[in-house]
Amino acid sequence: MHQSLNRQWLLVKRPVGHPKKTDFEYREVDIPEPGDGEILLQILYALVDPAQRGWMDAGGNYWNPLPLGQPVRSGILAKVVKSNSAQHPVGQFVMGVAGWQDFAVVPEGSVDPIPYDGTQDLRAFSHALGSKGATAYFGLFDVCNLQDGEQVLVSSAAGAVGSLVVQLAKIKGCKVVGVAGGTEKCAWVLGELGADAVIDYRATENMSEAIAEHFPDGLDVYFDNVGGEILEAAMNNLAIGARIGICGMIADYNVSDRVGPRNMWNLLVKRARIEGFLVADYRARYHEAQAHIGVWIDQEKIKYKIDERAGFENLPATLNCLFTGDHDGRMILKLTDDDGIS
Ligand SMILES: NC(=O)c1ccc[n+]([C@@H]2O[C@H](COP(=O)([O-])OP(=O)(O)OC[C@H]3O[C@@H](n4cnc5c(N)ncnc54)[C@H](OP(=O)(O)O)[C@@H]3O)[C@@H](O)[C@H]2O)c1
Repeated sequence: MHQSLNRQWLLVKRPVGHPKKTDFEYREVDIPEPGDGEILLQILYALVDPAQRGWMDAGGNYWNPLPLGQPVRSGILAKVVKSNSAQHPVGQFVMGVAGWQDFAVVPEGSVDPIPYDGTQDLRAFSHALGSKGATAYFGLFDVCNLQDGEQVLVSSAAGAVGSLVVQLAKIKGCKVVGVAGGTEKCAWVLGELGADAVIDYRATENMSEAIAEHFPDGLDVYFDNVGGEILEAAMNNLAIGARIGICGMIADYNVSDRVGPRNMWNLLVKRARIEGFLVADYRARYHEAQAHIGVWIDQEKIKYKIDERAGFENLPATLNCLFTGDHDGRMILKLTDDDGIS
């Protein structure tokens, strides 16, 4: 730890629509000292997640809104550099939530130690071995109660969570159709992830008809990452007893006048279930997902793609890439080369 100042990006205005650079302010402050039961983290990677947009709104969501003037709330991979906690020795690698800054003091137990032994790619804990893997795993197997050989539709199939859902469902022998935006992402979902088919939603006029072509008898599971029109289209194509897992609604994150699906009637007709979930509720079971997904990574049944960016100054700009699709894999931003990993 050679740095003497803590760089921070603060949220200073509530974004309207897509976040703008003027919603954030840069400052440098002293590195804080941990108190009793606290630890000082050096943040190695800031994780760029769609959920960050909701945390900025005044209304909040499953968390209180981030107060103005605070470092932007963000997922992180970090190393403990000072510790007043027996749970977190200096040198431990952790994942959790802190802020857009180089250093953060957090209470013990508020971050999760990473079983990183120096031989793996640490960045995997931002993706398949981290909360994205747990989201896909528990969303698909617990919430959607996926059964072998079922008919599965996944939106944002080239995204971090969606790409894992495609591969997990294929491991279970399912027919999997992904929805993604643009030729390159669709080719990746089909060729590399092994989906049976893919629908390019940006080039498709009638999503409902496109889904029907792939699922003439209806779909059993829709893993929904986007909400909006694609959710409505999926709900026109349910098999009896279908399950819809509401993982995310990214199509709605930058709009204030959200409109729900107009065809809820289909839930009744098809005796279907729709259920939202939060991966944080599975925190005590993350190790289960890690264990299974770790084996599948070793067996090359699960692939993951990381889009690593650099430059602390670029943090505000990275977030919008999630809403335009202008990223190639799970976005993370490396904050330091002084990470003691090598
Ligand atoms: N419930 C939970 O606990 C939990 C945990 C993690 C994530 N999530 C949610 O899961 C979803 C996926 O998260 P992620 O981290 O894996 O992000 P991601 O899918 O890797 O990145 C976002 C992607 O969403 C797609 N997208 C953006 N706007 C869209 C729109 N209007 N219509 C259709 N697709 C759109 C884009 O894909 P294309 O380039 O293909 O257009 C974009 O690349 C998000 O909604 C996120 O909030 C929920």
